[in-house]
Amino acid sequence: MSKKQTLLEQIRADIIRNNVCPDLAKTAKNLVMGDGNIDADIVFIGEAPGKKEDEVGLPFIGAAGKFLNEMLATAGMTREDVYITNIVKYRPPNNRDPLPQEKKDFLPYLVRQLDIIRPKIVVTLGRHSMDYFLPGIKISEIHGQPQHMTLGDNQIVIVPLYHPAAALYNGGLRATLIEDFIQLPKIISILDNEKEKQ
Ligand code: URA
Repeated sequence: MSKKQTLLEQIRADIIRNNVCPDLAKTAKNLVMGDGNIDADIVFIGEAPGKKEDEVGLPFIGAAGKFLNEMLATAGMTREDVYITNIVKYRPPNNRDPLPQEKKDFLPYLVRQLDIIRPKIVVTLGRHSMDYFLPGIKISEIHGQPQHMTLGDNQIVIVPLYHPAAALYNGGLRATLIEDFIQLPKIISILDNEKEKQ
């Protein structure tokens, strides 16, 4: 196991040992930590696992996940190129929205995941995930636009996108989300160029 894998496994163990969100843990079948390439340039952050994700223990494998995979393909990527996780790592009962306290309780573990993976961009999917990093901002005003910020000891770049589940059956949002998705590799090469100039 690589050092990164060992550190990520440690986060899973710590969530269980620290009894994070015990009510959710009681009703959930699995702790859904994340999936994909731990050396990825992009980490996607959703809200919380749904029914299928809870059953299998992997994020974004239901209808929203299928749409996410299609958009990745449109942007020339596969799931093996990126890392995908959620803010809240247990399924909330009946897929209700994660509570503010639940999001807060999982924050330190998400910060640790990002600190280990160190992606070039962090793509938040939906309002809940964006609020975490950019509270009080409307997603309609900044979707697709890279936002530089500090998280823990690191400078990170957040790109807020709409949630695939919200865009799935809304033609307008769907087109916007696909357009934003296609820009992701471009955003990364712009950031790479800026870094080279520094
Ligand atoms: N929606 C999310 O936000 N996360 C998942 O893992 C699945 C659906």
